Amino acid sequence: MTPTSAGTTAPAAAQPLLHQKGREVQRFGTVKQVPLGLSHDTRMYACQVLNQILADTQMLYALYKKHHWLMRGATFHQLHLLLDQHAEAQLALVDALAERVQSLGGVAVGDPRHAAEITSVPRPPDGTEEVPAMLSRLLDAHETILVEARTAARRLADLGDDGSSDLVVSEVVRGGEAQAWFLAEHLVDTPLTRLSPGPEAVA
Ligand SMILES: [Fe+2]
Repeated sequence: MTPTSAGTTAPAAAQPLLHQKGREVQRFGTVKQVPLGLSHDTRMYACQVLNQILADTQMLYALYKKHHWLMRGATFHQLHLLLDQHAEAQLALVDALAERVQSLGGVAVGDPRHAAEITSVPRPPDGTEEVPAMLSRLLDAHETILVEARTAARRLADLGDDGSSDLVVSEVVRGGEAQAWFLAEHLVDTPLTRLSPGPEAVA
């Protein structure tokens, strides 16, 4: 006898409507009207610049995770943990930037393949680099974002978008500067076990 599903299939009222495909309802690079007292042009500029910072921040987050995994050497444990801590902060920033774009009526960069297309952060090699090169790469990515973020914050404030300007200054700039400090101090060539040769020790 052929098996049958009669009597064991849920009724249509309980059945989820699966495999639906539809048209795009808002194109990337457009803004909806939202009642925030900010002009169309201001919100267009804000969404464009926030999406640029968002794409770059997604790449920085991914770089932090890659280097967290690929870290090695005498300071492996410390750097492994530090880079993960920084990655978590960058991920929180990704969410804050994306939600700011949405609140302004825009469309946030979501798909990592889209972010990779518009980012200014260079792609790293797929393999492993030397540890100082990985740290330098992270610092360079931070600097790229810091430069664009400061310019964006000033322009956003001039246009009256204080909310976006504040987000960029207080989160992207201040947070990025603090992370860059922690990274850069790991690139100072200090002896681990011997004093540097030189003038006599201070009494
Ligand atoms: Fe991990």
